[in-house]
Amino acid sequence: MSDTPELNEESVRAAADAALAAIAAADDSAALKAVRAEHLGEHSLLARLNAQLRNVPSDQKAVYGKLVGGARGRVNQAFAAKEQEISEAEAAAQLRAETLDVTAIPVPGRVGARHPLTLIQERVADVFVGMGWEVAEGPELESEWFNFDALNFDEDHPARAMQDTFFVDPVGSHLVLRTHTSPVQVRSLLERELPVYVVAPGRVYRTDELDATHLPVFSQIEGLAVDKGLTMAHLRGTLEHFARVMFGSEAKIRLRPNYFPFTEPSAELDIWHPAAKGGPRWIEWGGCGMVNANVLRATGVDPEVYSGFAFGMGLERTLQFRNDLSDMRDFLEGDIRFSQAFGMVV
Ligand code: FA5
Ligand code: MG
Repeated sequence: MSDTPELNEESVRAAADAALAAIAAADDSAALKAVRAEHLGEHSLLARLNAQLRNVPSDQKAVYGKLVGGARGRVNQAFAAKEQEISEAEAAAQLRAETLDVTAIPVPGRVGARHPLTLIQERVADVFVGMGWEVAEGPELESEWFNFDALNFDEDHPARAMQDTFFVDPVGSHLVLRTHTSPVQVRSLLERELPVYVVAPGRVYRTDELDATHLPVFSQIEGLAVDKGLTMAHLRGTLEHFARVMFGSEAKIRLRPNYFPFTEPSAELDIWHPAAKGGPRWIEWGGCGMVNANVLRATGVDPEVYSGFAFGMGLERTLQFRNDLSDMRDFLEGDIRFSQAFGMVV
């Protein structure tokens, strides 16, 4: 090789010094690999100087051999030491990078939960399906006729103002956001064959102020039974059964005379709340009564042959009693922690 200097003490020392400096400067295994190729390989300067031993007169071979061999030995030694140092450092760095803190508190994956209102709605429907009733539905955007007229609310009867209504534009559409689930009574009687035994859970709307026991959007469950020979005793028995399934075998209900245009007689349904804040007391749960003959007539049912009873309870209130929830506003927050507290079953 033309660029290989002459073999002598100086050239060997220079080659060895360059190799040692390169080894010292290498700070990772990739750099060290490049150093090996340049300074220790068969094309390295030291190797090429070593090859020149061939041309050295035999009486000086021992001296030059020792010179080059000693230099290569020092370089190899320095390389091996550096190789070990780097591999240890790299192994330590890898261990650090892959450290697992076995004492760390695990972050549990968030599992979703169904809203407790959905769950109670299904639970309530199940109670009645279990007795052979069917589940009926109606629209939330309801015609005034179903929400009021067919339910025997007079055009200017004050009862129309009893439930504060969201009317829908234009006024001529005669559409409202239904104020209760009772219009499903009318729909069911028009659509179904007699006898009718239905429950209708669903969302209703009123211009009520938001507070701990009132929401402007809430849910009710409507019940309607129309058959031959139904009396107030059937109503009471059904409500008692319902209350016991929902609140336990000790549950007590009370009917207080009241007025609804679509039932006669009508009653307000109270539930005994032994754990109520501020001491045990009766709390309004819903309304009920015997289906008014005018409603039967409006839906083509002969009140001389058939009679019926109906009821409608607030589902948020049902959940409130059942799970001792003080503030109904929590239902609206959409905080997953609220739902999760109920697990998957209410
Ligand atoms: C009615 O809505 C009648 N349709 C019930 C009925 C059905 C009577 C069938 C007779 C026959 P009332 O307006 O009282 O009645 O409401 C019934 C229940 O809904 C109340 O007892 C209460 O539990 C619940 N409720 C009423 N307003 C709200 C509100 N703003 N927020 C939450 N729950 C409410
Ligand atoms: Mg009421």
